[in-house]
Amino acid sequence: MTAAADQPGKENHGIMSTTGESTPPLEVENLTKRFRQGNAVIEALKDVSLTVRRGEFVAVMGASGSGKSTLLHVIAGLTRPDRGRVLIDGQDLSAMPDRRLTLFRRRHVGLVFQAFNLIPTLSAQDNVLLPILADGHDADAEQRLEGLLARLELTQRRRHRPDALSGGEQQRVAIARAIIGDPSIILADEPTGSLDSVTGQSICRLLQELCKEQGRTTVVVTHEPAVAVWAERIVVLKDGQVLTEFSTEKFRDLHELAAHYQDVVGATPATEVQP
Ligand SMILES: Nc1ncnc2c1ncn2[C@@H]1O[C@H](COP(=O)(O)OP(=O)(O)OP(=O)(O)O)[C@@H](O)[C@H]1O
Ligand SMILES: [Mg+2]
Repeated sequence: MTAAADQPGKENHGIMSTTGESTPPLEVENLTKRFRQGNAVIEALKDVSLTVRRGEFVAVMGASGSGKSTLLHVIAGLTRPDRGRVLIDGQDLSAMPDRRLTLFRRRHVGLVFQAFNLIPTLSAQDNVLLPILADGHDADAEQRLEGLLARLELTQRRRHRPDALSGGEQQRVAIARAIIGDPSIILADEPTGSLDSVTGQSICRLLQELCKEQGRTTVVVTHEPAVAVWAERIVVLKDGQVLTEFSTEKFRDLHELAAHYQDVVGATPATEVQP
């Protein structure tokens, strides 16, 4: 029996259906999420739907408060929606009790945050290994660790604790930790938000390369066009709803993309000009 066969839900990972179509790694259907604050109710997500193909790199953009992080948290199973559902590898998170959801998340979802969220007392290597240590040792872990550390240029830094690593190195450790368990999707919330722009761009390039080389499906949340431009597709949220989505292919450069983004989120609809 393979290690994958022991893992709940892993059996469907990338498997073709009987019709020959691969199950999308991520399907989001009609999500609605409300938060109550005193007497007020905030609708953070309103009827949001989204499908992401295997190996696709999608950016979710939108102004502050548009619902980006809420969407990512619901996709990750960290927050339960009020309505709608999330399917990862065809498996409905809403149907899972909490404990099963926690296990499922650990095996299917890799999370990367702005603040890196590394354990300060552990070395880079132990931080990377943390998610799979929780599941007991797996025979391939050592090999995967070596490969990942080399790929993410962390081999020389493996014994260092987070406070002895640069911001870019810390985020690379967080990315290695997110993918050590070979998740179906990587979810990143403002992954470059704590980095200078050059380091931020190198992290975006790395995420893009991991999508292309290893077929990693990635959803990045950002309000920065300079981050979103690395994705293949951009989904724009406004006031908790999908305003529009577009491919990045048609833009020649970042400037064009940023101008288009400003146009679509631009507050006021254009007034009609009489000829
Ligand atoms: N736990 C919560 N309790 C109450 N309201 C919340 C909670 N989490 C989010 N909200 C509200 O839901 C809306 C969407 O928040 P969210 O954090 O998803 O926005 P965002 O697009 O990620 O913003 P930012 O770019 O500032 O990170 C906001 O109005 C926010 O205040
Ligand atoms: Mg946010």
